[in-house]
Amino acid sequence: MLLRKLLGDKMALEAKDSFSGVDISEIRKMNALARKDTINLGIGQLPDSLPAAVRDKGIEAFMNGETRYTSNQGFLLLRELAAEYHSEKSGKEISPEQIIITNGAEGALWNILFTYLDRGDEILIPEIAFSVYNTIADLQGARAVPYKQNEDFSIDFENLMEKVSSRVKFLVINSPNNPTGTVLSEEDIRKLTALADEHDFYIISDEIYSELYFGENTPFSPLQCSDKVIVVDGISKRAAATGLRIGWTVASQEITKPMIVANQYITTCASSVSQYAAIASLDGSTGRFVEQVKEDLKMKGEYAFNVLSSIKGIQVVKPQGAFYIFPDISSWGNSKDVAHKILDKVNVLTIPGIAFGERGDRHVRLSFAMDFDVLKEALNRIKDLLENWR
Ligand SMILES: Cc1ncc(COP(=O)(O)O)c(C=O)c1O
Repeated sequence: MLLRKLLGDKMALEAKDSFSGVDISEIRKMNALARKDTINLGIGQLPDSLPAAVRDKGIEAFMNGETRYTSNQGFLLLRELAAEYHSEKSGKEISPEQIIITNGAEGALWNILFTYLDRGDEILIPEIAFSVYNTIADLQGARAVPYKQNEDFSIDFENLMEKVSSRVKFLVINSPNNPTGTVLSEEDIRKLTALADEHDFYIISDEIYSELYFGENTPFSPLQCSDKVIVVDGISKRAAATGLRIGWTVASQEITKPMIVANQYITTCASSVSQYAAIASLDGSTGRFVEQVKEDLKMKGEYAFNVLSSIKGIQVVKPQGAFYIFPDISSWGNSKDVAHKILDKVNVLTIPGIAFGERGDRHVRLSFAMDFDVLKEALNRIKDLLENWR
């Protein structure tokens, strides 16, 4: 606006209407405030180095000259491995033709929503969710409709039923979950797939954290009991490989076909070197790495839960997967005020829950994927600050 005033009639280039209100996420904004010596519990990735097998495969790709375009859909070998992985997990025959290798899980979400969401369509999204779903839906001119969650972050079905209509094309779930660290029960997922059948919508199941679980039950995928599902997955979290940008979708061939075209026009193909490296994340070479990470996260998640729940006035749900814990800090203020005070007073960075929707404003998100001694120090500082709040 100011620019427009200064330029008089000469208009500055303006972003399209659907972009209005879209800004860098609160997660990125908060992370930008980290100082050199800040303990940063705001980062959404494992601190581990890339598993050696993935690294070596990437080096091999360079050495072998695997540095050219791949097919728009992705390397066949990687798609075969992804298909095998999801066949085993779902108990269904998934073929490589049902997989598209994308630029991270985020690229997979873009392909789905760009291809299928029309202006006026509705997409049901948990009221506390990774902000990308809402943003991409908004950019397509679709309507993102939040559905409520219970205190333990499970789905409030009574509320969800009120939101279901013929305008709904998709419903999003993300289990294990960012930011709550919770896992949806098989029973609830079966209820959702029954609803999808009855009301003719598709479930987008974001399973990017599916290998990182440490609760009692293995996360259940809706693909195990329904065909009205598009799975989003990738290696970013399971292989400590957020920078390689490899994700994928699993869907029927019919649904996949137009998304291959979208992938072509959005990005041509995912990086060939990264696709090659990702082979090692699915061919069994990183099994031990993932097992160790899970054990480590279980211990740290329990520790974080115990420290946080010992603070009077805090409500906290025990994490079962991913590497986040999402305490209710509303006794101390709103999420931005509390997160900023934690940063200013004790130099620990957390993410204000408002980054995940209005209902998140009672919470801050902490990542416990962190060196244990540093995590202990961070939690002690937070506990001390909250117990002596002034
Ligand atoms: C729930 C969820 N989905 C998708 C993504 C995006 O993953 P990627 O880095 O593979 O694009 C993230 C990243 O933090 C996430 O938390």
